[in-house]
Amino acid sequence: MAIRICALDDLKPGKALRVKIGDHALAIVRTPSGDVKALDDKCSHGEISLSEGFVDDKTIECWAHGAKFELDTGKPLSLPAYEPVATYEVLIENDEIFVEYED
Ligand code: FES
Repeated sequence: MAIRICALDDLKPGKALRVKIGDHALAIVRTPSGDVKALDDKCSHGEISLSEGFVDDKTIECWAHGAKFELDTGKPLSLPAYEPVATYEVLIENDEIFVEYED
């Protein structure tokens, strides 16, 4: 089902937001060029919140040890992470961000 996250204007380009759906945390990412992506917030390498990392148009980088994850697929592009993180479909309707999420 589609879950409303926030207004598009509340997530500035180049920023990421940590949101909890139940006890599962997602990182909602707005790329510098304005696209919105969603992926698991927990880095696959450790207990670090990816939404506190660094965002570019294609990746988010964990601040702890520098693993980069591809925003479209969740695949790690650099060590020390080697497991992917899950990604979620994002819908924008009436300038609101929704994420397609199933429990
Ligand atoms: S905890 Fe993210 S790269 Fe190590």
